[in-house]
Formats: sequence, C-alpha cells, structure tokens
Amino acid sequence: MSTHKDIVFLAGDGIGPEISIQALKLLKHFASIYDISYKITELPIGGACYDIHQVPITDQILDRCKKADAVFLGAVGGDKWDNLPMKFRPESALLKLRKGLGLYANLRPIEIYDGLDSISPLKASITKGVDLMIVRELTGGIYFGNPRGIKEVNGQKTGFNTMQYCEDEIKIIAKKAFELSLQRSGRLCSVDKANVLETSRLWRETVDEVAKSFPSVKLSHMYVDNAAMQLISNPRQFDCILTGNMFGDILSDLAATITGSIGLLPSVSIGGKTILYEPVHGSAPDIAGKNLANPLAAFSCIGLMLKHTFKIDKADVLLNKALTSTLEKYRTSDIWQDGTTKLGCSQMGDIFIKNISNFT
Ligand code: IPM
Ligand code: MG
Repeated sequence: MSTHKDIVFLAGDGIGPEISIQALKLLKHFASIYDISYKITELPIGGACYDIHQVPITDQILDRCKKADAVFLGAVGGDKWDNLPMKFRPESALLKLRKGLGLYANLRPIEIYDGLDSISPLKASITKGVDLMIVRELTGGIYFGNPRGIKEVNGQKTGFNTMQYCEDEIKIIAKKAFELSLQRSGRLCSVDKANVLETSRLWRETVDEVAKSFPSVKLSHMYVDNAAMQLISNPRQFDCILTGNMFGDILSDLAATITGSIGLLPSVSIGGKTILYEPVHGSAPDIAGKNLANPLAAFSCIGLMLKHTFKIDKADVLLNKALTSTLEKYRTSDIWQDGTTKLGCSQMGDIFIKNISNFT
C-alpha cells in the first residue's frame, strides 16, 4: 500500500537552501526504493520570507504548514536581518511555527557514527559509544513567557523575560520522555535548576508525579550546570535527557561537541498533526553559498521522516550502512581527517545516495 504524504520544504536562510536540496534529493531516492509517494510544496521562511513579504513567516505559510503531514526546515537567520525588531527577526518565524503547530516535544538524538570517534575535541575514550537523546520542551518556558520586553526602570533601560511552566505543560513533555525512555534503555535524567528556580521546583515535583505511571523507568534528576559538566566528562551515563526549552537549547549544542560537529545532528519535533524536521545546526552564514555545508544532519532528518512520517523503520539500517561506508572515504570540511577526500555539500550528497544504492 502506498503512503501519500503532504510535505512542506522551508529551506530558509544561509546554508538552509543548500542542505534542503540534498535532503530533497535523498527523499526522491527513497521514493524509488520504498513504496512511498508525496507532494512537495516549497515556501520561504525567515529572512528569505522577510525579503518578500516583510514578515519572517506569513499567516498563509503557517496555515499551509498546519495542513501538511511533515515540514522540513533548513535553517533561519543571518547578519542581514540581525538588527530588525524581535518580531521581524528570522528566528521568530521558527518560534511561531513550533508554537503554531503545537510541537511541544523536540527530540535531538546524539550518537557517534562509526569512524568518527576521533573528530571530537573530547578523547575517544570519553565519546566512544555515546548514544543519547535530548527531549527538549519546545513551546513554553522562557522562550514564550510573558511579560517580556525592554523598558525603563529607575532611569535605565531594563530587559526582562519570564520563565514559566504550568503543570500540564510539564506533564505532557514528561510523559513523552518516559515513553521514549521505555523504547530505549529505560533510564531518564530530568535536568532543571530546582536549587534556584521555582519553575524548576514545580518541574521536578511534576516529573516525579508522572514517574509513578512509569515504574520501570529509572528516573534521576540533575541540575543543569552539573549536567553540562557531566555531558562533557562522562556522556555515556546518559540515555534520555528531559529538559525545558532554554536548558535544552544550550545542552543540545554542548552535546553536539561530543560528536565533533553540529553538522551531524538532526531533530524532530512532535505534538501536533504536522511533524517538523530540522537539522540542529543553524544557518552558518560564514559558509553559506560556498558548497561547504555538511548535508548529513539533513540526511538524518530524512531518515527520521521515513520513520515518523512514512512509518518505514528499515530505512534507518540502510542510512547507517551508507553513512559508515561514505565516511570511511569522504568527508565535508567540518569533519575532514587525513586519509579521507574532502567533498562539498552537493558532491557529498551524490556519493551518499550512490552508497545507498549499493546497499539496496
Ligand atoms: C535551535 C536554535 C533556535 C532555538 C533558534 C534559531 C531560535 O538555536 O533550534 O536550537 O533557540 O530554539
Ligand atoms: Mg539552539
């Protein structure tokens, strides 16, 4: 039975368009292997959208995404739009999209690919075998709390934001993290700052409450500062990490260091009808348009799309085989090592897809 899906591609800014082209190429290739079919609609977001419509996302584009089964988002942001007021900045489109689609859970898997255990700035003895998942709350916390702004207080400009979580927001993301832990090793570490923040005290209490329905999951709690240190000094102790929006943002970049390049990490956001796939790397303006970007995070996003949107689990094995054999000989510059050939983004895409064909 063929599975037909409606997919929106939002290439965005910086390296977003380059890696999106490669992602689309891989998806097309998968359609020649598996019984899947789809309709692709390409739309602008971020700075690219601002340049056309004077807003980083239009209501029409958001509504179109709400109707889709899946959205692939390349990246948003760049120097050109940095001085715009907050609501016109490319990043605000991303936040509006996540919130508008109700994507409260952002899953960021972090694993070390075969052959890449020596590209990390950390010792291979620390990084070897790391396989963890950050479950980041995505539609609440300080990113969305009100009041927020900059106003004059005692004669000087003062910036303020509100970090806030209600019980229901915590319950729903905690439940998701427990369920995911059950599909993994059954260990879950909830990260907060309960020694200082009330939001975190409620977070911890609520996670403990949800834990009662998951007696087979081994739950632990850790303060975020300690978690940052532990992620770098002993990352193998973690399997699933549950945390709030801002802590998750910071810890996931930190965890990218374990793999050696943020150019390798995919993410999937769930919670509503539409599933959003985004590489964790940003728009990387310094290398944009130079065919230097690493398309592997985008490829892993397509792997996740095959799994979550098309419900094809076996694509994962194929992707991993292609990844291992590609990386043995070929690398983009962010992960290049002596003895391998340096390739640009599009050449890496071609070789990778050729390797997939070799395994089918
Ligand atoms: C991420 C990014 C975004 C975030 C930015 C671009 C708004 O850093 O997805 O991690 O902070 O969530
Ligand atoms: Mg981030």
